[in-house]
Amino acid sequence: MNVLIIGSGAREHAMAWAAAKSDRVSSVFVAPGNGGTALMGGKVRNVPLKATDLDALLAFAAANAIELTVVGPEQPLELGIVDLFRRDGRKIVGPSQAAARLESSKVFAKEFMRRYAIPTAGYHVFTDAASADRYIESLPAESWPQVIKASGLCAGKGVIIALDRQQALEASYAMFDDRIFGDAADEVVFEDFLKGQEASVFALTDGARYRLFLSAQDHKRIGDGDTGKNTGGMGAYAPAPLVSAEVMRKVEERVIVPTLKGMAEEGYPYTGFLYVGLMIDALGDPYVVEYNARLGDPETQVVLPLLKSDLVAALQASVEGTLDTVEFEMHAKSATTIVIASGGYPDHYDSGKPVTIDDEVYQLQECMVFHAGTAFEGDRLVTAGGRVFSVTALGDTLKESIDRAYQAVPNISFEGAYYRKDIGAKGL
Ligand code: AMP
Ligand code: GLY
Repeated sequence: MNVLIIGSGAREHAMAWAAAKSDRVSSVFVAPGNGGTALMGGKVRNVPLKATDLDALLAFAAANAIELTVVGPEQPLELGIVDLFRRDGRKIVGPSQAAARLESSKVFAKEFMRRYAIPTAGYHVFTDAASADRYIESLPAESWPQVIKASGLCAGKGVIIALDRQQALEASYAMFDDRIFGDAADEVVFEDFLKGQEASVFALTDGARYRLFLSAQDHKRIGDGDTGKNTGGMGAYAPAPLVSAEVMRKVEERVIVPTLKGMAEEGYPYTGFLYVGLMIDALGDPYVVEYNARLGDPETQVVLPLLKSDLVAALQASVEGTLDTVEFEMHAKSATTIVIASGGYPDHYDSGKPVTIDDEVYQLQECMVFHAGTAFEGDRLVTAGGRVFSVTALGDTLKESIDRAYQAVPNISFEGAYYRKDIGAKGL
């Protein structure tokens, strides 16, 4: 069958790689894909359609007998691509527009969690600077820090941690008056600060049944030791030792089950990938930091290589309501992925830098080079984004996967290439 994957990052390259391994798949189209998916050959081909051009994507699916569509990023979900495809009778993996609000509206997500007693930080919502500022002035000393979030989609950048009253007033001014996050900050959430360690859990669900991938830990900051600015993610590893079987059981019981039940009860059953970002406290109790309506990037680049069974079979089962019987098996290994970024990222960076990939990298054991932001200029591979590569390696232990990934990275070079040197260290 023919599969369409929507998106252009390393997440979608990893999805295309996993889909192409499936015996039941004859063609994998990636819209728009990147230099890495262009290089794959075999079953995989790029289609020059934007991830947000929903009508063109639907027309392409109809014209090319696409039997299964998989949505990578959040924007098409927020725009309602799943509803559009379903109305046309097409199978697609992802949540409806109403269900995707778990990610696209932090206010919706917080109110939903309050309705179903799902553990998360306490919060208040404001729609104007005057009320927010009155709240800030009223907070006692023990209420700091506060986490201040634009409610709408901001590519992971709409969060400010205010250590004191002054910083909170500045954040309120920046969001309401300077409108640094535009309409995404029409509603602003003030959250209590959660202490603990972060990890993420990913489920594939048909609205009632679900299957779990391995847990993962992302590295969001640009600098070693989790310092500097927030990025889309500079590396990840899986599984996260922090998420023991006992913690996972609590996450299922306290978060995943009530989330699916609540969404179904309210009339918008949640389908597709559910990403739960968690803070795990000292007692091993999980609190939801955020929901995402998709798989994470770079987490996908460790989670999918650890899936031993057929990804496409599981995705098909999820749209056909047979998720409880499909094979869903993981390798008993660890994986680490290291993101190679353009110099300057997450601030200004230049694109169009020629890239060299040493062929030796393809001989390395259990190593995969996923492209995040590359493109072809004629027949020359060049950088085309802030995050340029995501280099993954598997190992029998986390340590082995880290060492293998770091052995691979120097085989890729371009001017200004930057990567963190401590990915995975906090899991050891
Ligand atoms: P979000 O976009 O909601 O995931 O927030 C981005 C990052 O801010 C998270 O990955 C956390 O590191 C941090 N963060 C968000 N909410 C909280 C919270 N309530 N307490 C502590 N840290 C938080
Ligand atoms: N790596 C974080 C995200 O995909 O949102």
